[in-house]
Amino acid sequence: MPIEIYYFTGSGNSLFAARELQKRLPDSTLIPIAKLLGQERIEPAGDKIGIVFPLHGMTLPVPVEIFLRKLFPLPGSYIFGVTTRGGTKFYGFKKMDKLLRKKKSSLNASFLINMADNDPKLRHWKPLPVVKMQEIEKKALTHIEVIAEKVRNAENYHETDLEGVSVSKNPVLNFLFDRLILFAMWMMKLSGVSNYFYAGEGCNGCGICEKVCPAGKIALVNKKPVWQKNIRCYFCYACLNFCPKSVVQINSKWYMKSYTPQNGRYSHPYAKIADMTAQK
Ligand SMILES: Cc1cc2nc3c(=O)[nH]c(=O)nc-3n(C[C@H](O)[C@H](O)[C@H](O)COP(=O)(O)O)c2cc1C
Ligand code: SF4
Ligand code: SF4
Repeated sequence: MPIEIYYFTGSGNSLFAARELQKRLPDSTLIPIAKLLGQERIEPAGDKIGIVFPLHGMTLPVPVEIFLRKLFPLPGSYIFGVTTRGGTKFYGFKKMDKLLRKKKSSLNASFLINMADNDPKLRHWKPLPVVKMQEIEKKALTHIEVIAEKVRNAENYHETDLEGVSVSKNPVLNFLFDRLILFAMWMMKLSGVSNYFYAGEGCNGCGICEKVCPAGKIALVNKKPVWQKNIRCYFCYACLNFCPKSVVQINSKWYMKSYTPQNGRYSHPYAKIADMTAQK
């Protein structure tokens, strides 16, 4: 039973998870989602399909939603979703299942892996110390063993999201907070074609931001990055996190204050620039 593992990654966490899964699943191949998005239809050859991606604003990232709309799985395929996250709840698996049901398929299994947060625009965000990273990796690998076992057995299984962080013990406050995050993400997506990012002082024109951008949104003009308005952003933050000078910043918006000039940057310890360019 060939297995195709489709992945999308912005800072390497989901790539790490996808690679580790692949090692544990015989006859499996890794396929980058970003490479396929120009196609009208995406028709997998495998009858087991994995989709590994980060959680963005508690929901599906833009490219994964586009991918799912274009995906036409083989009838009867076993489909599993794996999201990597900083720690909040996730509302995207329901949406995934809904999109798959339009193709007479469904989401057979879903898993959430806690990893490091790669979103430096948040106020209290800090890059994690090495020891903490090692701890996260160890836990993630144990979790991936369990996921691989379930996939090998084609189990219908949906992980309960018990570890998803809530802001309060009050369910009403939590409900409102979740809606606020979903709203902010929705606004970000709306602003995805406009001027969300900029390169601050200290840019040396190296072009790494352009290379790692899976959407092809960045062009280098006179050795300076330009986020092109007519191209949709995937909000993966690869440009922000891989800039060697940490000068890519997010403009604050009325619905979300950004702290990127104050904060550090994050990419998964094993993620190389070549890994990021290979996905597009
Ligand atoms: C725009 C954006 C929004 C995010 N929103 C959330 C969120 O709502 N909850 C959460 O737990 N993590 C969130 N994260 C963190 C990522 O889901 C997490 O770090 C993920 O493992 C990154 O995977 P990647 O390196 O494969 O892109 C967000 C990251 C970005 C860039
Ligand atoms: S990666 Fe950073 S330093 Fe290099 S061109 Fe882009 S913004 Fe400038
Ligand atoms: S512009 Fe930045 S955040 Fe948007 S898709 Fe490109 S690399 Fe990702």
